Amino acid sequence: MLAAVADRPGRLADVLTVRDVEGPAAPGEGEVVVRMLATTVNPSDEVTVSGAYGSRTSFPMVPGFEGVGVIDALGPGVPAGALGRRVLPLGSAGNWQQYKRLGYSWCVPVPDDVPDEVACFAYVNPLTATLMVDRFCRSGVRNVVVTAATSAIGRHLAELLTDRGITPVGVVRGTPGRAVADPSRWRAVIPTDDPGWRERLRVAVGPRGADVTFDCVGGDVGGEVFALTAGDGAFVHYGLLSGTPLPAECLTAPGGAPVELFRLRDTVHKDGGQHLPEPFAPVFGNLRRGRLHAPVGMRVGLSELADHFKTPTAGRTGKILIDPRR
Ligand SMILES: NC(=O)c1ccc[n+]([C@@H]2O[C@H](COP(=O)([O-])OP(=O)(O)OC[C@H]3O[C@@H](n4cnc5c(N)ncnc54)[C@H](OP(=O)(O)O)[C@@H]3O)[C@@H](O)[C@H]2O)c1
Repeated sequence: MLAAVADRPGRLADVLTVRDVEGPAAPGEGEVVVRMLATTVNPSDEVTVSGAYGSRTSFPMVPGFEGVGVIDALGPGVPAGALGRRVLPLGSAGNWQQYKRLGYSWCVPVPDDVPDEVACFAYVNPLTATLMVDRFCRSGVRNVVVTAATSAIGRHLAELLTDRGITPVGVVRGTPGRAVADPSRWRAVIPTDDPGWRERLRVAVGPRGADVTFDCVGGDVGGEVFALTAGDGAFVHYGLLSGTPLPAECLTAPGGAPVELFRLRDTVHKDGGQHLPEPFAPVFGNLRRGRLHAPVGMRVGLSELADHFKTPTAGRTGKILIDPRR
């Protein structure tokens, strides 16, 4: 079968090759083999291949945390009715290949009316946005700031916040040609390449500061936005797009907002996947209603994936959808 393999840590453009590898062994007790139908690329794939999670990543490895497939073979102990079910095969990387062997408990059934091209994006961003808004935006929260507001997850956060009557303030870096998906969902969108952006943000959040900030940028921008989050609010830190950690003072500032580190992995892995179908119910509900969709910017066959990462991406918008069948 075809698989995209990272032989060593590094940039995807430098270390990924697509090649014929041996197919998965017959599934063992409680395992299945999933034939992949569609898979995706997320910042977490790049970060994992970079070697940032050294202690839990061994190379060579097949990246890809997200995708949809169909159960193609069953090991002992798996119900016969599982054969042919469409599922999200979660809990490990390895989606950038034609077949993936994994424990059946990690397979989340996909409703029949959610197409492959929608289902393949259901996990990383929609589930994270849903869990974070549920956890941190309880009643009383009105004033919310979202950094990297042009990102796919920024768009989902705005959709979910609208449901709660919250119109967030977005912070963006001001890349030419990039705009938030639906400006009507945002109270203000403030670009950090404007020298007056801190003052604009201060005015937008008001004297009390933000009740909740969702930050996936870190670095100086994260630090500035932290300073405008209310001390009895929450600064939810869930990514590091700037590549620079939050200033250390954010964690120690007296009277500063608590920094809540959110990692989808912590929720998903907590009991070996046993609880997993449940948190997907609202995600699939929203996907059916045309919400939490990721706009597809480009379709790439698995066989072309390594070349794809060598091509400059400037100005490209939308997510990459990988077709493992070609
Ligand atoms: N903790 C978790 O469990 C979890 C789960 C899901 C996602 N995340 C994180 O969420 C973040 C966004 O993911 P996504 O899939 O939504 O991204 P995406 O759609 O691929 O978009 C990337 C976004 O990052 C922005 N960006 C890139 N470098 C930046 C920088 N140095 N400073 C400010 N903005 C920058 C881009 O801005 P432009 O529009 O200006 O190019 C764009 O908005 C990532 O950090 C990801 O790891 C974390």
